[in-house]
Amino acid sequence: MPQKFQTLKKAKRLTKSSQKWLLRQINDPFVERAKLEGWRSRAAFKIIEIDQKFKIFKKGKITVDLGAAPGGWSQYAVQKVGEGNVFALDLLTIDPIQGVKFLQQDFFESDVAAILGKKCDVLLSDMAANATGDHQTDHLRIVGLLEESLNLAEKILNEGGVFVGKIFQGGSSNEILQKLRKNFSTVKYFKPKSSRKDSSETYLVALGFRVPLAE
Ligand SMILES: C[S@@+](CC[C@H](N)C(=O)[O-])C[C@H]1O[C@@H](n2cnc3c(N)ncnc32)[C@H](O)[C@@H]1O
Repeated sequence: MPQKFQTLKKAKRLTKSSQKWLLRQINDPFVERAKLEGWRSRAAFKIIEIDQKFKIFKKGKITVDLGAAPGGWSQYAVQKVGEGNVFALDLLTIDPIQGVKFLQQDFFESDVAAILGKKCDVLLSDMAANATGDHQTDHLRIVGLLEESLNLAEKILNEGGVFVGKIFQGGSSNEILQKLRKNFSTVKYFKPKSSRKDSSETYLVALGFRVPLAE
């Protein structure tokens, strides 16, 4: 029996929401492509699209990937910047990726700047907190992740550096945008085609970091 039908047969035993998730996975062309091309996640296509549009990676650029599991973004980044130049972090563990240094830790509890011990050129955050169902709490957590990753960017980016952060509708305050516009020469919203249309997820891409004069 073809795998698709076996999966659907098993799905009958799942809850309605799990069935919906499974059907979406089965019918998602990016899930299929990720398998065929050897990417750990369909998310890889999002960073590929971001890079195709904004040319964020170059050989030798030090890259930090926050919320890296299962590893699609890191897989792509290391191909572009070279082995030894990618540092990745997630609450969850990942199977090792050659040339990527990985740390399993909560971003809120880690001192990434100290662990890295040097500045970086590209800071990526695809972090997404699990939804609690409580709108207010979820909103605060989304904004918190973006704010904290941006604070880190300001601390560790080299002149001309790049910041890419996942946001959800209503998840970026004016304050965050103002900060980005002050510190980067270009700030854009970008929703890759591989980001599901029914998801309010989008990305903030900030290019040309200006190191504050006081440093
Ligand atoms: C959408 S997934 C990232 C997919 C990844 N970019 C890829 O290409 O495979 C979001 C990740 O953010 C991680 N995450 C959420 N909150 C975090 C936190 N506080 N610290 C570290 N990782 C976190 C989750 O564990 C999850 O693996």
